[in-house]
Amino acid sequence: MSTTRIVVQIPDEERYDVRIGDGVLERLGATIVEEGILKLGGRVLVITDSNVAPLYLARAKASLKGAGLIVDDITIPAGEASKCLSIAGEIWEAMAALGLGRDCLVVALGGGVIGDIAGFVASTYMRGVSVVQVPTTLLSMVDSSVGGKTGVNLIAGKNLVGTFCQPSYVCASTDVLSTLDEREWRCGLGEIAKSAVLDSDEFFFWLLDSSSCMVERKQEQVAEAVSRCVVFKANVVAQDATESHGIRECLNFGHTLAHAIEKLSGYGTFSHGEAVAEGMRFALLLSERMIGAEAAFTETVCGLLDSLGLFPLDWNAPIDEIVDCMKGDKKVRAGALRFVLMDDVASWQLVQVPDEILREALEEYFEGKKEA
Ligand code: GLY
Repeated sequence: MSTTRIVVQIPDEERYDVRIGDGVLERLGATIVEEGILKLGGRVLVITDSNVAPLYLARAKASLKGAGLIVDDITIPAGEASKCLSIAGEIWEAMAALGLGRDCLVVALGGGVIGDIAGFVASTYMRGVSVVQVPTTLLSMVDSSVGGKTGVNLIAGKNLVGTFCQPSYVCASTDVLSTLDEREWRCGLGEIAKSAVLDSDEFFFWLLDSSSCMVERKQEQVAEAVSRCVVFKANVVAQDATESHGIRECLNFGHTLAHAIEKLSGYGTFSHGEAVAEGMRFALLLSERMIGAEAAFTETVCGLLDSLGLFPLDWNAPIDEIVDCMKGDKKVRAGALRFVLMDDVASWQLVQVPDEILREALEEYFEGKKEA
């Protein structure tokens, strides 16, 4: 299968490549040298986790060393709990102990947790060193590895400390997706569905037609979906890299309820993508109430989610708790909850939703679930 190369060009930033395809991991080191990210003999720190290390660390290191780079590695425990300041501190100390200077490169080998914490550590060590993202989950390939958001969690909430720091290269080696379990796979499908609805009729109807291939992980369609998501995200980020022009916020479609579901049900009970799919279903109902979206649009999008195996979640919580939890989100402005609402494919708006309407919509939503 051929490799797809997408160039991410953000104003005032260095452009970078995302390369997508089978086996691009084998060319990781060569690409880093060819693209001038490091010179021969340059130093690299690979940051990975305890799930990914046994699977792909040796391959990544072999490629880097084969290209004439000097490589060290750090493995942190797998899981969201590692995305914290104490682990970031351990990595900073280890980097200093290894004698890494400002000219070193961090390679983030793993899913979203690794991408976020490695990106954060790289963007702050010695006031910032370069980072290359090597995503190993479908979710991180289609979303978090591109666009430069980094972060760690505080006890007070997820991603409350972080930076915007674009990677120097994103190496999306689709062959590594073969080891993902069903749950991780569905997690990525949720974000792909979100991107398709936001992007265009072309992507949306392609995904609808390709949904069974996506569920069956057919290589060609999977690589195509990753490419389409990366092109979409690169366009959004190029227009609003720091989420300050009201454009990048579209990527939060489905995320307001999703974050509440993940927190209230206990992180890990549902995958992020499953929670996003549920959040999209709710945001569509809210769109009917607030911006006159037609029920037929909701049905079409929910049909896509069903066809990807992202069925409504068996989940409920007291409405007060859900609203309080949503209000703890860092995207709240002046105490007001804002939702990304949609009335058609590629037609979205950011809408401030008054508490009463939100509560009524949540009641209607849970009633609808009981009846279903
Ligand atoms: N994952 C949402 C964003 O990158 O803005």
